[in-house]
Amino acid sequence: CGIVGYIGNRNSQNILLEGLKKLEYRGYDSAGVAIHTEAGLELRKTKGRISELETRLEAQPLTGFAGIGHTRWATHGKPSDANSHPHTDNDMKISVVHNGIIENHLQLKEELEQLGYRFLSETDTEVISHLIAHHYEGDLTEAVRKAVSQVRGAYAIAVLSEHEPDKLVAVRWASPLIIGVGQGENFIGSDIPAILEYTRDVYILNDGEMAVLTRDGVELMTLEGNFIAKQLFHIDWDLMMAEKNGFDTFMLKEIHDQPRAYQDTMRGRINEGKEIVLPGMTLSAEQIRGLKQIHMVACGTAYHAALVGKTVIERLTRIPVEVDLASEYRYRMPVIRENTLVIAVSQSGETADTLAAMREARQCGARVMAITNVIGSSVAREADDVLFTLAGPEIAVASTKAYSSQLIAFYLLGLFMAQSMETLDQASLIELIAMLERLPSQVEEMLEGLEPVRQIAEQISNQNHLFFIGRGLDYSLAMEASLKLKEISYIHSEAYAAGELKHGSLALIEEGTPVIALATQELLLEKTASNIKEVKARGAYVIALALEGQTELEKTADQVIYVPRTYSLLAPALAVVPLQLLAYYTASIRGNDVDKPRNLAKSVTVE
Ligand code: G6P
Repeated sequence: CGIVGYIGNRNSQNILLEGLKKLEYRGYDSAGVAIHTEAGLELRKTKGRISELETRLEAQPLTGFAGIGHTRWATHGKPSDANSHPHTDNDMKISVVHNGIIENHLQLKEELEQLGYRFLSETDTEVISHLIAHHYEGDLTEAVRKAVSQVRGAYAIAVLSEHEPDKLVAVRWASPLIIGVGQGENFIGSDIPAILEYTRDVYILNDGEMAVLTRDGVELMTLEGNFIAKQLFHIDWDLMMAEKNGFDTFMLKEIHDQPRAYQDTMRGRINEGKEIVLPGMTLSAEQIRGLKQIHMVACGTAYHAALVGKTVIERLTRIPVEVDLASEYRYRMPVIRENTLVIAVSQSGETADTLAAMREARQCGARVMAITNVIGSSVAREADDVLFTLAGPEIAVASTKAYSSQLIAFYLLGLFMAQSMETLDQASLIELIAMLERLPSQVEEMLEGLEPVRQIAEQISNQNHLFFIGRGLDYSLAMEASLKLKEISYIHSEAYAAGELKHGSLALIEEGTPVIALATQELLLEKTASNIKEVKARGAYVIALALEGQTELEKTADQVIYVPRTYSLLAPALAVVPLQLLAYYTASIRGNDVDKPRNLAKSVTVE
């Protein structure tokens, strides 16, 4: 799931290890390195944490100036030492690390076995190392090219060979890969944090492109062997931005990053006349006015942001919006008529399902817009327009600031469209924008007074299941709150539309069952209050979340947490904060690894 490569004048072992540690956030189950030493190609790899790899390397260090490293998230074959990358050919001359999936690996494996190659792992990756060995006739680049021409699927690959130890070969198809350019040294990374400590100048490889790295230079070419020139990207992310900033975990740091993330996402997009300006947006006012429908596709947390986005855009523009899970959209034969805009929402911009849904939409003639956090990501590069969230790198697997910044992006987009369509009078537009601009300081204020949330976490941390209920935007937010809790605390929870509970799941409410009732939507307040009474009557312990001043809820709920006053439409961007912290504290109290929840990966680049 994470790749790092190094060639230069320094000993590669620690550079690879550091790079892999920066990629831990991607989620992984094993790690390994291959380094060219005086004795030839040597490997150290292990199932488990990078710290275990480190321990092995401390016991048996490797010295060499070229190496590749990998963190694996199992797709073919269980997590094990043998299945960990790098993989080699039978002569131990060629080593390979790979992200992605080789779809035709079984067939290739059979053919290779008939030719006498022995397989040592259950991975799809191993076919690549044998294929390269099979095609090697004195030119590693050529052998890699021939090998990948036989494979079908997704791959980001880095190759180190004892035959030509003064080079690394990298190739990309449908799985991200970057090349970092240094002085007298060059790097490969599956993403930027892996190499940021060493260089800020990178080439972002596109599908079908490869790179040959020596310590003194980088050659870029297509899979057909034609040399290409590419623009070097300068990354101005601060490495500190990718570290914890003194917080215990990345998740807590990222929750506290939100005021800045909101500000950055709004920066330059609201002018002095309180108008939304979206520089670079090619969708014209006329095209916006002509839109018949909007489809949104996303996975996981981004899907929950899209659910909020639907309400925001429908309310502000009256354009009908449908939201689909990306993995469903692709196969449900969506009805895409003329003037359909499809919005793909993805923090990483690399989620395979989202990318596939987006491509499907495109093929059916839709115009595609992306909302993503990663510049240069696949989703960003393939969309007609991109609205970047500027949350900065998000490292904790459970998404927080990326989600809330996606909400900000939807507010900006909805208001931008409303301006073009004149669906909102000038005064309302200006008021909404002014309230939007207050959100960062309101979040800051909230982050200072969250002790009550910690106390509630103490109460729920020994429960086995609980409910989140809400109506309208509160229901959309309840889904995200529930997912957050499940992801990191491993407590089972369900999000229910408050009005729907009585049609079935009310049967699960027992004496003491915790119910978290979101009640920030003023027009729905009375209705939600009566749903609170329903669950109270069955013995539930109710914690309500409301806007400041909605004190009447204290009469029905056992406890009320308040968030600062804002418009109902903007409330999710505030109310999400105590809900993120509730999940966070509950998981910490239970002693879980909050940043790396079991079985989950930050970015899922397989379908
Ligand atoms: C993974 C992550 C989730 C994330 C989802 C979509 O499952 O664990 O936190 O919401 O992918 O990721 P994306 O990068 O497309 O937003």
